[in-house]
Amino acid sequence: MLLGLGSVLVSALLSVPLIRFSLFPLLRRTTELKSSPVGELSEFSSLTEPVMRTIQIGQVDGWRKTISEEIVYVTKDSQGQLRVLTSICPHLGCTVPWNKEKNQFVCPCHGTTFAADGTRISGPSLRGMDTLETSVEQGQLQVRFQYFRQLVSDKEVIG
Ligand code: FES
Repeated sequence: MLLGLGSVLVSALLSVPLIRFSLFPLLRRTTELKSSPVGELSEFSSLTEPVMRTIQIGQVDGWRKTISEEIVYVTKDSQGQLRVLTSICPHLGCTVPWNKEKNQFVCPCHGTTFAADGTRISGPSLRGMDTLETSVEQGQLQVRFQYFRQLVSDKEVIG
């Protein structure tokens, strides 16, 4: 009787890691976002206007790995430091292109305009274009892509 109880207990204890391993993808709630390479740092040393780059975003959801693409702009802030902007309009999410003639970003949907560094100039958007976290690894500019809440004046990460 005692021996039987002991083996049930040992079996139950041994199965805990196996159950956790099997359920890991289902229980995991956060999505792991990795940094994406944007280009060699030297490519952006003499920027005179924002340059568009399409980055690949690797996402891990439990056991599932996906790759998606997003458009970002590499530009400079008022101190001349590199900054990477998402092209997603903070108003309602349209893709904002750089308008070379106007020397501004002009959103095609409702006309919000942004300066080269992403600051809002005019239009319905309540804030400037969103900056993304950057880092440099072995001479490569890396960016951590994130999505932000639209229609609010403060930048708020939603994923
Ligand atoms: S979506 Fe860009 S101004 Fe409305």
